Amino acid sequence: MRQVTGLTLALLIVSCAPAPAISTSETQPPRPKAEWTKGGMVAAASPLAVEAGLEILREGGNAIDAAIAVHAVLGLVEPESSGLGGGAFLVYYDRAKDTVTVFDGRETAPASATPELFFKDGKAMDFVTAWQSGRSVGVPGQIALYKSAHDAAGRSDWATLFDPAIRLAEEGFAVSPKLAETLASPRLRGAIRLDENPVTAAYFYPEGEPLPVGFVRKNPDYAATLSAVARNGPAAFYAGPLAAKIIAATQEGPDGGAMTLTDLANYKVAIRAPVCGTLQSGYKICSAPPPSSGGVAQNMIMGLYDYLKPAAQTEADERQYLKAFVDAQRLAYADRDHYVADADHVTVPVAELIDPAYIKARALEAFAPGAKAVPGDPGVVLGKAPMRGMWGEDPTTPGSGTTHISIIDRDGNAVAMTATIEAAFGSSRMAGGFLLNNELTDFSLTPTKNGKPVANAPGPNKRPRSSMSPTLVFDEAGDLFMVTGSPGGNSIIAYVAKTLIGVLEWGKTAQESVALANVIARGNTIGVEVDVPGGAEAAAALRELGYTVEDRTGENSGLHVIVVRDTGLEGGADPRREGVALPIR
Ligand code: DON
Repeated sequence: MRQVTGLTLALLIVSCAPAPAISTSETQPPRPKAEWTKGGMVAAASPLAVEAGLEILREGGNAIDAAIAVHAVLGLVEPESSGLGGGAFLVYYDRAKDTVTVFDGRETAPASATPELFFKDGKAMDFVTAWQSGRSVGVPGQIALYKSAHDAAGRSDWATLFDPAIRLAEEGFAVSPKLAETLASPRLRGAIRLDENPVTAAYFYPEGEPLPVGFVRKNPDYAATLSAVARNGPAAFYAGPLAAKIIAATQEGPDGGAMTLTDLANYKVAIRAPVCGTLQSGYKICSAPPPSSGGVAQNMIMGLYDYLKPAAQTEADERQYLKAFVDAQRLAYADRDHYVADADHVTVPVAELIDPAYIKARALEAFAPGAKAVPGDPGVVLGKAPMRGMWGEDPTTPGSGTTHISIIDRDGNAVAMTATIEAAFGSSRMAGGFLLNNELTDFSLTPTKNGKPVANAPGPNKRPRSSMSPTLVFDEAGDLFMVTGSPGGNSIIAYVAKTLIGVLEWGKTAQESVALANVIARGNTIGVEVDVPGGAEAAAALRELGYTVEDRTGENSGLHVIVVRDTGLEGGADPRREGVALPIR
């Protein structure tokens, strides 16, 4: 593979050998494995959280244990992004069993939700109003996910996993620059109710001023919540006094929600198979299934790129590689937008969308730079009933409060977990020392388009579509090769795909792939991050090729990547946030 810089990429010698199957089933005998000698690594959005994960690994815990400890700390020190009041998708690779399992702790609509969940006075609320409403709060899945993953595969004692976070909450943590900056942002303060709601105002704006950098913030309520969960498990959260506080905060105005104690008591984690696809190079990409669009989108983008990139071993105009990435995204986003929703409630043609025959045909449909991006029809291509007409056009708009954790433990097991409360500071409602999500705004606020139902419309006990793409990559021999993921609303898909293309196709290191300019090609305007090296050149190249380009600054990806090399583990942490990737020593 040839290493190149800037926009350019390595030429790939394509091999067509299929990779061995990886499944969630434990009926296949695991392949014999050599001893794991590469150590462990934790990559996440805060050094305090990474240190908590390393502490658990050092004490003999595995990747699942470490993920819980890391995330419990993030919920305290990075409260704008995720926490106990939100949800997550956790993708787990068990090396001894050779299995990949997805724990879906996505927030769920209350049983009383209707397609008109966000209607007021006969029409859909605007997005920001919906975001701050009680109706946006989904039943949180995070604590149930911790328990379900720990019951399935954890090794450490449950109660000890919360010790680092409880310690920090009791002793106080130093407010980071990013948290302080976010709290002080006039734009954010203008849009959300964090400084108006008395509970959140007292915590984040003591004396009316945003918490400054370095301020030592204690959170005794959070310590009490975690201590109760450590002692009594999820029952301490989904029932009893804490559950009552969650319901009360949800029901407060404006536009109080209808979540009940029964909704909380009924919350269930879904344990699912990952969406996996094998590239022509033999790499296998496994990521989150519906209700996330991550697995479908990552596999579509990488599969389409295989067909759209310039022929291997030719010296092509370097812009053509960028064009291939952009066109692959446009095709995949159009399909993702149209087809993906909660597959427990609507039909989602997952297998068809990543079927190699559809991918090959879809690549030929690449839109001219000025043409509107429209969904394809896998039904027609694969000789089945047409599928495109099933749903109205997806009307969702981009949003922005999420975090990603990548871990490999000392036995070679891996976790990719992306966790969210949806918008920065979620719904600006707090109970038990944590913020409540506003995830239900990931549904389409308008349930029909041109008289047709939209797949991702709200519904009772339904989970809103996600873009979260916690992803594991396996090499041709079936060995773990890469762990990646990011926050970023529906730009997550583009951010994560950038690291896959960067490492698998362009010969970049983990850190180099994270540092590449973000290029987001959803719809007809290509967003290009121009305030990082290579970004302005990429924007100019795409303009020359005829695309409509929007120059973007202040991009908010939060990629955390681990690549398994012959020499050991290679980490990458996004300089756009405050994370680190550290090996266990
Ligand atoms: O599940 C999703 O796709 C979104 N709720 C994620 C939101 C997000 O990443 C905001 N990030 N910065």
